[in-house]
Amino acid sequence: MKAIGLMSGTSVDGVDAALVDIAGQRDNIQVTLLAGETYPYPEQLQSDILTVCAGKALTIGEFCELDDAIAQYFAQCAQRLQQANNLTAELIGSHGQTVCHRPPQDSLGYSVQLGRGAMIAHLTQKPTVSNFRAADVAQGGQGAPLVPKVDACLLGHPRFSRCVQNIGGISNVTYLPPCSQPHWETQVCGWDNGPGNSLLDLAVQGLTNGQKRYDKDGRWASQGTPHQELVQQWLQDPFFQQSPPKSTGRELFGKAYLDRAWENAQYYGLSPADFLATLTELTVCAIKQDYHRFLPALPETILLCGGGSRNHYLRRRLQHYFPEVTIQSTDEAGLDSNFKEAIAFAVLAYWRYWDRFPGNLPQVTGAKQATLLGQIDCP
Ligand SMILES: Nc1ncnc2c1ncn2[C@@H]1O[C@H](COP(=O)(O)OP(=O)(O)O)[C@@H](O)[C@H]1O
Ligand SMILES: [Mg+2]
Repeated sequence: MKAIGLMSGTSVDGVDAALVDIAGQRDNIQVTLLAGETYPYPEQLQSDILTVCAGKALTIGEFCELDDAIAQYFAQCAQRLQQANNLTAELIGSHGQTVCHRPPQDSLGYSVQLGRGAMIAHLTQKPTVSNFRAADVAQGGQGAPLVPKVDACLLGHPRFSRCVQNIGGISNVTYLPPCSQPHWETQVCGWDNGPGNSLLDLAVQGLTNGQKRYDKDGRWASQGTPHQELVQQWLQDPFFQQSPPKSTGRELFGKAYLDRAWENAQYYGLSPADFLATLTELTVCAIKQDYHRFLPALPETILLCGGGSRNHYLRRRLQHYFPEVTIQSTDEAGLDSNFKEAIAFAVLAYWRYWDRFPGNLPQVTGAKQATLLGQIDCP
C-alpha cells in the first residue's frame, strides 16, 4: 500500500513528507521510500506557530484558523509530493504540528498537535490518520516518543545493538538490542534526551537578528570552545536527572531557557562561537549521560537521523564521547535520515488503518498498555 507520512517537529522548520510503499503486517513489514521532500513553512505561518508555542493566547476562533491553516499546508505538501513524482497514495498519516506538550505529572499529560485530519482528508480525498499521541496519553503515557516501535521493526540488527538517535529540535533515542536475542523487543527502550537543535537555532537567530535560522554544518560553533563547567551546571536541570519515561518540548527548552543560558554565558564572558559550542555540548552531554545511566549497555552503533545529524561539529563531539562506538546515519542502515520520522508516521497510519496494530511501546511512553494510535478521518 502506498502511504504518505507528514511530519513537522519542534524545530518548526517545515513539513517533511515521505511517500512510501508498505508491505507486510504488524511487526513484519517492508517499507520502501518512493519519494521524500521537505517543504519549508511559509514565513507567516511559521511565525504564527512559533508565537503560539511561546505562549501567545488565542481566542477559540483564532485557534481554529491556525489549526486549519496548518492542515491546509500539510494537505498541500501531500498533493505536491504526489504530483511532482507522479505517484498516488491511498492513505495519509499526519503528525501535525505540536503547539503544546505537557508530560503527565500527578494527572494525565496533554499534548496538542494542530492540523486537523478531517481537513487533510477533505482536501486530499484520502483517509487520514492524525492525532497519534492522544491514545497513549489517555493511557497515562507521555505520548512520546512514538517512533521506537517503528525503529525496532525497521532498524533492528541480528548481531549488533544499535541506538537510533534522532536530533530534531528535541533529541530522542531508541535503543535496539540485537534482534536475534529471544524476547529482544521487550528490551527496546527510548525517551527524549533534551534539546537537540532547539536552543542552537534560537541562539543563532538571536545572535544574527534573525538573519540566520541555524548554524549550517555547525561551522560557527566549531570555531568556539565549549565551557564544560557551564554544561555541568545546565545538566543539573531536573529534566536531565529524571529517569525515563520522559519527554519534553519547547515549553522547557525554548526562549526562556535560552535567555537564562545566555545570561550564564555572559557571566563567564563567552563569545558567540563559545556559546554555540557550549549549547552543542549540552545536547551531546545529555545524550552521553543518558546512555551511561539508562541503557543496559552502550550500543555498538549509533545511527543518527534528523536535521542535527548534518551538524558536523555536533557529530564530532558525539564521537569524542563515544570513541568505541561506530557513528553512522540511518542512511547506512537503509533508511533515509532526512525522512525517517515522516516514514514512521506513514507506518503508524498503516498500522492504525490497515492492520489495527498498536503503535506505542508502553515501556517507552509509560502508558498502561499498548494501544491503537491515531484518529481516522475519511473524505
Ligand atoms: N546542515 C545542517 N547543519 C546543522 N544543522 C542542520 C543542518 N540541516 C538541518 N539542521 C538543523 O535541523 C533542524 C531541522 O531538523 P528536523 O529533523 O526537521 O527537526 P524537527 O523534527 O524538530 O523539525 C534545523 O532547524 C536545523 O537546526
Ligand atoms: Mg523539521
